[in-house]
Amino acid sequence: MKTILEVKNLCKSYENIRVLSDVSFKVGEGEFIAIMGPSGSGKSTLLYNISGMDRPTSGEVVLCEKEISKLPDEIMSEVRLKQMGFIFQHAYLLKNLSIRDNIVLPGFEAGVLDREQVNQKADALMRKTGISNIANHDIKKVSGGQLQRAAICRALINQPDILFADEPTGALNSSTTKEVMDIINNVYTDGTTVIIVTHDAKVASRACKVIYLIDGNIHDALELGKYKADEATSATREKRLAQWLEKMGF
Ligand SMILES: Nc1ncnc2c1ncn2[C@@H]1O[C@H](COP(=O)(O)OP(=O)(O)O)[C@@H](O)[C@H]1O
Ligand SMILES: [Mg+2]
Repeated sequence: MKTILEVKNLCKSYENIRVLSDVSFKVGEGEFIAIMGPSGSGKSTLLYNISGMDRPTSGEVVLCEKEISKLPDEIMSEVRLKQMGFIFQHAYLLKNLSIRDNIVLPGFEAGVLDREQVNQKADALMRKTGISNIANHDIKKVSGGQLQRAAICRALINQPDILFADEPTGALNSSTTKEVMDIINNVYTDGTTVIIVTHDAKVASRACKVIYLIDGNIHDALELGKYKADEATSATREKRLAQWLEKMGF
């Protein structure tokens, strides 16, 4: 499998406090990686530092064979806009724009596709995620699950190489969590690499590999292989992961 992202000896300190120390791992093209660990172990910091939202104190982040962690800000923004998609716990959509306008905005900004193509892409994404009916709605009038679907569409409008997600289901109830995870799973089966931070073992059990952080270090990693959506395999994966997490003291 081709490596799409390689993190080498990444360290991050704030003032004199070390939050990440010597984190190294590789992500294969089309893989689905989950990052778990206790609260405060550095999961979000790791995600921000590998996705150019923050800069490592030392170490390297190699995306598609290019070192990106020291790129000038404007080039980094371009890489993020065109090659990366982001979802957070909250959707952070712009309040004065409709669902559709929020989704097409980064597409227009990137300028890779023309406006008509961006509009068509947005339509297709909204159809896939089941929010076509609220395309023209004011974002203040839709549910949390619908907002998160819109955020996923926005993250995918430029067909990123990697989708990064930080606790994307952290504010959702269990049935909406399942719906959102089914969508993220489809993104992964369509070939996009996904890196997700989560404290939800059910969510993580869909990943090919789970990385466990303790105090800013990779403590251990569990290979689960490709996810298949039948009930028996899901149950086995969840059980394997639960036993592993228990050993980790999670
Ligand atoms: N901007 C910052 N300045 C100082 N300390 C920070 C900053 N961001 C995170 N930290 C610290 O780094 C540690 C890891 O935080 P974080 O990555 O948010 O953990 P997690 O996502 O695993 O809960 C915490 O102790 C947090 O207080
Ligand atoms: Mg966090």
